[in-house]
Amino acid sequence: MASSVSGFSKKTKEEKILWLVENYLNNDPSAFDMLKRYWNPDVKLQKLHDDFIENTLTNYYLPFGIAPNFLINDTLFALPMVVEESSVVAAASNAAKFWLERGGFKAEIISTEKNGQVHLNFFGNESDLTTFFTEVKPKLIESISSLQKNMKERGGGLLDIQLINSTAALEGYYQIHCTFETMNAMGANFINSCLENIANTFETEAESFSAFKNTDHYPEVVLSILSNYAPNCLARAEVHCKISELDQLAIDGATFAHKFVRAVEIAQIEIRRAVTHNKGIMNGIDALVLATGNDFRAVEAGAHAYAAKDGNYKSLTHAKVEGDEFYFWIEIPLALGTVGGLTSLHPLVKLALRILQNPGAKELMQIVAVAGLAQNFAAIRSLVTTGIQKGHMKMHLLNILNQLEATSEEKEKAVFHFKENTVSHSAVAVFVKELRS
Ligand code: MEV
Repeated sequence: MASSVSGFSKKTKEEKILWLVENYLNNDPSAFDMLKRYWNPDVKLQKLHDDFIENTLTNYYLPFGIAPNFLINDTLFALPMVVEESSVVAAASNAAKFWLERGGFKAEIISTEKNGQVHLNFFGNESDLTTFFTEVKPKLIESISSLQKNMKERGGGLLDIQLINSTAALEGYYQIHCTFETMNAMGANFINSCLENIANTFETEAESFSAFKNTDHYPEVVLSILSNYAPNCLARAEVHCKISELDQLAIDGATFAHKFVRAVEIAQIEIRRAVTHNKGIMNGIDALVLATGNDFRAVEAGAHAYAAKDGNYKSLTHAKVEGDEFYFWIEIPLALGTVGGLTSLHPLVKLALRILQNPGAKELMQIVAVAGLAQNFAAIRSLVTTGIQKGHMKMHLLNILNQLEATSEEKEKAVFHFKENTVSHSAVAVFVKELRS
């Protein structure tokens, strides 16, 4: 049975691995070797990665790929993507090529406001709290003046601060709702520091406010944190073309457009389809968000909440046919940064940003929205025509061959054979077995 451990984080990396192997991996020496095999031989580079988190043992590789030919607002981009799913980059590249020949993507920023809250308990008289908030508001703003200095110089900072009465939903619950502009930073640290200063000042000042003293009801801070729901930090991306330009080998443009719009309509009203539809969008978005060192969990959480903003969970993309034109677009909250955090630390993140021509946060938001739209286009295009499995399994073929430990020669033969044949795990296994017998 494994034993508990104290002072684990103080152990060296090797000691930590030994402890793990001893306690959870049956003292298997190959487990030790495996973890060490992924260390980077460049000691300084490895140390940089070790320091990102606590208790680092090794590195975990994901492929870093590129999807070229993205024409966005008349500029050509190659999108760096970090993702494990075999067909994602191929699908993005396909969609990029498709729209390159049809005018490319148009993207714009709708808004860039972030927000955070100090969540409060207060069981006294509402008017006392309102009076106190009005009085203390200048002090709350003053309490973050040094924190805001640099951000203000860059054109950002606190935009507004309001007291919100949420007692109808939860007895005694109020919020200090703050909005921020964080320019090229994602801004989580900045916002959280501001909120904690505001919360401290609020609580301290409340102690000497006479109305509270008289009633013995003081506001109490429960917690202070930014919100990953950023419905006012929105990017929009669109493609459109003549229906006749959608003619493809196996399907005419009008039929394709009709089925495509229907597929999006289904994802607007049926949650079971909407979740998978949006997952496909996030395939592209997360890959780019990861490559650029942004917080994909924040983007995921915010995107799905936005998809449910009207009370029902819906598709994040929209499509229509108007006259003889086909339109397809996305509107999505994207709280992204191109400075701070991993963006200035991780060498591959820096490179990814260079590949994107060192965008500011607004440009990155537009590019990421395009990646989501392109990924969704590729998925729906396959779904309403050939089905997803044909392309997916073709891309998965090499993974199956690697699982079967195929040699280079076997792989070459298999790739040739499966150009004309349906890929499945068993079909590939039979093919390799026959090659070997
Ligand atoms: C697979 O990762 C993503 C899709 O399921 C998305 C979709 O169904 O729209 C293909």
